[in-house]
Amino acid sequence: MKFKDKVVIITGASSGIGRQLSLQLAAQGAWLCLAARHVERLTALADECEKLGGRAMAVPTDVGQESQCENLINKTVEKFGRIDVLINNAGFGIKGSFEELPDLDLFKSVIDVNYYGAVYCTRFALPYLKQTKGRIVGVSSILGKIGMSGSTAYCSSKFAMAGFFDVLRLELKKHKVSVTMIYPGYVVTEFAERMVKPDRTLQGQEGRKFYTKSMMTAKRCAHIIIKATARRKRQLIMTSYGVIGVWLNLLAPRFLDWILPFISRMNKERIGGGRI
Ligand SMILES: NC(=O)c1ccc[n+]([C@@H]2O[C@H](COP(=O)([O-])OP(=O)(O)OC[C@H]3O[C@@H](n4cnc5c(N)ncnc54)[C@H](OP(=O)(O)O)[C@@H]3O)[C@@H](O)[C@H]2O)c1
Repeated sequence: MKFKDKVVIITGASSGIGRQLSLQLAAQGAWLCLAARHVERLTALADECEKLGGRAMAVPTDVGQESQCENLINKTVEKFGRIDVLINNAGFGIKGSFEELPDLDLFKSVIDVNYYGAVYCTRFALPYLKQTKGRIVGVSSILGKIGMSGSTAYCSSKFAMAGFFDVLRLELKKHKVSVTMIYPGYVVTEFAERMVKPDRTLQGQEGRKFYTKSMMTAKRCAHIIIKATARRKRQLIMTSYGVIGVWLNLLAPRFLDWILPFISRMNKERIGGGRI
């Protein structure tokens, strides 16, 4: 019950990992500010959170827009009076190689949402987080540690998050504000369905086939994130494959470069024959 009566902002709360974070924190009695673009989903989630024993407010927000992030922070402070935790979780990916992109608009929008969204929210929340000696969380990805072909924009955004938050952690040490970076592997959410193709259509059902029953559930992922946040962990690489990948990247980068195309191909084949 570490988060009882703590004011927590969760971006990307409307589905997947963010939704599970909201429900589990509500069950601990947290006061939640839920942010994403889908208003109906957010309001329904706020009701569910209240029934679980938390307090919750939905603030429709596109984190790619600086003014909307400022509004999110202002609304939270107006309603709850302070901020204890900011979880930067909103994000999406695009599918296709760099050369397949007709222009850079889609590429830039990934950076705007995944990277600048986190930077904007952190910037506006920082004065309040310093007052409470609060916690900042960045939900990155194992692709924020290791490059994978077909993910230039996504990897760039997640690597940038790591750079930003690793420096911020050092700068905020004197204020006792912790920064926890999370690097999940594959998690069963709507993420793959919502991946945008170079022609700007969504992967949809094709993406859904990507998931297998052995992948981590959003519920488990959220549970691990909450534990790491409570302990003010520096970073958390979620799966053993992730840990092995990070070590290989340091000790045998050429071997990793050699093996990654095989993993990438396996993933593509799975899209044609997934089980969920
Ligand atoms: N699933 C995985 O395998 C996996 C692996 C590693 C890391 N991650 C990371 O985990 C985080 C959560 O993803 P997920 O797996 O839970 O996917 P998801 O189910 O698709 O959820 C993504 C969330 O981000 C929100 N979002 C997207 N664009 C937004 C914007 N412009 N402004 C505000 N909110 C926005 C979505 O809400 P709206 O559409 O309502 O705005 C949604 O709530 C992401 O940062 C992702 O990169 C996921």
